[in-house]
Amino acid sequence: MTIKAVVFDAYGTLYDIQSVAEITEDAFPGYGEIITQIWRIKQLEYSWLRSLMRRYQAFSVVTREALAYTLRSLGLQHDEATFARIIDKYLHLDLYPDALSMLEALKDRKLAILSNGSPDMLNALVRNSGLERVLDATISVDKKKVFKPDPAAYALIEEVLHVPPAEVLFISSNPWDACAAKAFGLNVAWIERVTPEAMALACVESDTVAPLTMFKALRTQMDELGVVPDHRIHALSELPALVSAQRS
Ligand code: LAC
Repeated sequence: MTIKAVVFDAYGTLYDIQSVAEITEDAFPGYGEIITQIWRIKQLEYSWLRSLMRRYQAFSVVTREALAYTLRSLGLQHDEATFARIIDKYLHLDLYPDALSMLEALKDRKLAILSNGSPDMLNALVRNSGLERVLDATISVDKKKVFKPDPAAYALIEEVLHVPPAEVLFISSNPWDACAAKAFGLNVAWIERVTPEAMALACVESDTVAPLTMFKALRTQMDELGVVPDHRIHALSELPALVSAQRS
């Protein structure tokens, strides 16, 4: 089986969502980490809830609502400028350091993002991070008005790239996304950025579990959803060799 297209999740996979922590800490000293973690947990939760409720709103709206919830739940007063400054970081997230060189090494394949992000968010992010020139497509689930993990979202890959699922390698560090993509029929590589050993160590290292550790426990370890991704890698830089090895 030859892989003709390599398709990436955006947030947490190509882009480091933890890179918002500096701005949240600057805006609310002492709360940066807890804001970052509650925000992401709620952002995903709202996307899933809205899909189930059939009350789709663009991910930009969901992201704002999740931040509003987070600040309110922590009792943090804020003005509009502070809110806008934090939200703006979502258009300027840091790329993982090995992302660009990995994409350049794979340029003989079709390369794309498939993300829950809304087109305005994704297009700005891709432009601001310099990925515009290496990606063939930036696909937003917005076309389907439903979020991943709905199968309709993954169907967009074939609809846009005209490559069937069997010839696509989908990459995500989000375990729920990797499982859903596999259930849909894509070839899937899951990026295990936090090993179970590192996780166990972080949990015994201190008396209290830090918000980041809690987030990692909830969102970085493989889920129990009855499907297993085809490949487990630890960094984006492993992908070019993995894709070449799929040639038959
Ligand atoms: C994405 C988020 C959900 O689709 O990680 O990019």
